[in-house]
Amino acid sequence: MIAPLIDGFGRVHDNLRISVTDRCNIRCFYCMPEEGVQFMDRAEILTFEEIERFVRAAVPLGISKLRLTGGEPLLRRDLPRLIEKLAAIPGIRDIALTTNAVLLEKHAAALYGAGLRRLNIHLDTLDRARFERITRRDDLPRVLAGIDKAVEVGFRNIKLNVVAVKGLVEPDIVPVAKYCRERGFEPRYIEFMPLDAQSLWDRTSVLTADEIISQLSREIAPLRAVPDADPRAPATEYEYTDGGGRVGLIASVSKPFCLNCNRIRLTSEGKLRYCLFAIDETDVRPLLRSQASDEAIAAVIRSNIAAKWIGHEINSPQFVPPPRPMYSIGG
Ligand code: 5AD
Ligand code: SF4
Repeated sequence: MIAPLIDGFGRVHDNLRISVTDRCNIRCFYCMPEEGVQFMDRAEILTFEEIERFVRAAVPLGISKLRLTGGEPLLRRDLPRLIEKLAAIPGIRDIALTTNAVLLEKHAAALYGAGLRRLNIHLDTLDRARFERITRRDDLPRVLAGIDKAVEVGFRNIKLNVVAVKGLVEPDIVPVAKYCRERGFEPRYIEFMPLDAQSLWDRTSVLTADEIISQLSREIAPLRAVPDADPRAPATEYEYTDGGGRVGLIASVSKPFCLNCNRIRLTSEGKLRYCLFAIDETDVRPLLRSQASDEAIAAVIRSNIAAKWIGHEINSPQFVPPPRPMYSIGG
């Protein structure tokens, strides 16, 4: 039995987030600049075989849960083929996908057919004009059609990610929550983090989890914390006291959950990052592109985790934003 992936603070890592592309078909302002994005060269991006190789080397260290992210992962051709490959690896218990759903109508059936069961859909608003303001694209109808299609082909328990930006999404908090309640989805409000490409973030632009809970409790139904929720999950789970479903709050800024972190990240070009906000990263691509053994890959994963810091310092004056924006890290 190989020792699990434990860092210097006793945190066990079983969760790997894989960015399959840095490209995106929309331009959410809290993630990407409007113009002039420099995407990576295609030759730099890991192939499906290289990603599979990495995962096979990581599973014996205890990695059992995967999330595919981007950029926008559905821009990667044949993504269902990657999902099939990953689902077939013994030891992988769970695969999830985060998507903006613009292309979901076309791909939902194939994704479900490949064995995917967990979907997080990025959607901040049901208002077409505001959607366009946030994403700089007029794609809300396609997103909604994509979500309907996902339900039609069999996806259940869909989660909707809402980035909570003060002075912007307050009017959307309740409509999105109601839309989710009607369909049995779970909204997840993520506090706006300093990961945007244009440094627009500041503390006053964060709509906090507490503010959202009070707004929903006041305007929909009272919420209470779910007692048996997984303490290692980034979202704190709440449920409506009237039985109307759940709401997740990701309080990355107001209540950082770094002490429970169980995640590592692989960027689309093969850099290993122990934190969304990490400054240092480890390049594993040379190993994946050579005859390196699984043990050699595992050793590099271990050394990255061994160097993991206690947590991000968003709340301290010394905070340094990561050297790359969200779309190139993978959410
Ligand atoms: N702050 C918080 N969440 C963000 N996301 C993207 N940029 C930010 C940010 N600056 C979220 C999106 C996406 C997920 C992967 O990360 O909701 O769905
Ligand atoms: Fe694209 Fe996601 Fe970034 Fe929005 S948050 S621009 S959907 S990668």
